[in-house]
Amino acid sequence: MLGEVARLIQKARRGVVLTGAGISAESGVPTFRGKDGLWKQYRAEELATLEAFRADSKLVWEWYNWRRELIRKVHPNPGHYALVEFKSWFEDYTLITQNVDGLHRRAGLDDILELHGNIQLNICVECRLPDKAELDIDPDNIAQCKHCGGKLRPGVVWFGEMLPQAVLQKAFRKAEEADIFFSIGTSALVHPAASLPVLARQRGAKLVEINPDETPLTGLADYYFAARAGELLPRLVEVVSKEHKA
Ligand code: OAD
Repeated sequence: MLGEVARLIQKARRGVVLTGAGISAESGVPTFRGKDGLWKQYRAEELATLEAFRADSKLVWEWYNWRRELIRKVHPNPGHYALVEFKSWFEDYTLITQNVDGLHRRAGLDDILELHGNIQLNICVECRLPDKAELDIDPDNIAQCKHCGGKLRPGVVWFGEMLPQAVLQKAFRKAEEADIFFSIGTSALVHPAASLPVLARQRGAKLVEINPDETPLTGLADYYFAARAGELLPRLVEVVSKEHKA
């Protein structure tokens, strides 16, 4: 099956990848769902909403500081590095991620469509302007926005919030135009991200899914690999480079 996907890759001009928390699992970043998922230990509405921040910004910052610290200590894994190789295969390559951990960038990709923001950034809770200083935040004395004096909050999308519209529009356009679309390490439950592979498939792209567990997308996928991304993706890179030489 990897050989067939490798041949499709060779024919494709536009390649799009959507990643979720599963791509970073092998780096040691907990996923959201599943048995060790973050949402099992914490109630999302207590931590990842604007209401939660307004009610107890200290608690919210303590949780985000814990996650920031964890993410700073981990490293990109072979899955992230393999996705950098993808760049040389397509005339037009787009990586869309739901992750806020910045590991794709640390692996060497720039120009990533971050649908849910980036955890290392701070934005103002009132005027939403980003604070470029990338400050560490003291939960007992939360730094304020230089423009309006509002409290700084993490630069991520919380439940009930809109995704960054320009990024989302570009992601939809790239999905529509894709010849091949990879959905990797996402439970494909959270929209609008989960609509991207469906749209790509409807518009004629071949759909490849990599996830040890089946998802709502699996039935729609042309190729489904029940595998860990950090193992499967380097194998795919190997097969594609062999095909290329042949
Ligand atoms: P989830 O935690 O919902 O799903 C992670 C997926 O990764 C699961 O389907 C796992 O089976 C799979 N997985 C685990 N280990 C893997 C591995 N080594 N290789 C490949 N796949 C693996 O994470 P997301 O789908 O990213 O949103 O969740 C989507 C959004 O829900 C997140 O961005 C977050 C959350 O609410 C916001 O914070 C806005």
